[in-house]
Amino acid sequence: MTRRTLAVVSAGLSQPSATRLLADQLAAATRDDLVRGGDEVELHVVDLREYAHDVVNNMLTGFAPTALRAATDAVTGADGIIAVTPIFSASYNGLFKSFFDVLEADSLAGRPVLIGATGGTARHSLALEHAVRPMFSYLRAVVAPTAVFAAPEDWSGGSADGALRARIERAGGELAELVRRRPAAAGPVDPFALTTSFEQLLGRTDS
Ligand SMILES: Cc1cc2nc3c(=O)[nH]c(=O)nc-3n(C[C@H](O)[C@H](O)[C@H](O)COP(=O)(O)O)c2cc1C
Repeated sequence: MTRRTLAVVSAGLSQPSATRLLADQLAAATRDDLVRGGDEVELHVVDLREYAHDVVNNMLTGFAPTALRAATDAVTGADGIIAVTPIFSASYNGLFKSFFDVLEADSLAGRPVLIGATGGTARHSLALEHAVRPMFSYLRAVVAPTAVFAAPEDWSGGSADGALRARIERAGGELAELVRRRPAAAGPVDPFALTTSFEQLLGRTDS
């Protein structure tokens, strides 16, 4: 049995939040698929509204306050990431973008990511493809083929049925498969880690 960690990032601002609801359902579908395959799964939920002030402070000072550092470590050290944003002005919202802006460069390279979004109109569902997917491609993450958009009419009460349920299950299965193909994550990237041995440093000559 392999132990896997999933980071669940939700940029919803409302309480209760449709974005958080979708994120939780995507996380459950991914976890269930991994568990069926014999893995043990730990979920780390990062509800970005709790870190909004810290994210801005990080952008202004270059340093992450302790709570935000724990959240960014949970994301950069996870085996798989579920990233869900509300659509604002036909794109991800500012909080979502700012959070990923403060992560260390290259910290998501090769990392499996499942993307999702909620919006007020299904007409903006392709924002996932023209805004969210390109952002993660730039970060060199490995984005699952199925992206999940939920409009208000896709929910029946607080649950996902029909076409939305089918997309959630398919996307969760795809992320689980991407996670299974990789060795278990070693944890967050340490930007101050020594990547050169002392022998190499001592043997180096200036040219
Ligand atoms: C400032 C603002 C801009 C928005 N722009 C869009 C938009 O362009 N397209 C859309 O479908 N929904 C738009 N919405 C609606 C939100 O995406 C939608 O209500 C979302 O599900 C809210 O998520 P939450 O409940 O997690 O906060 C906008 C909402 C706000 C507050």
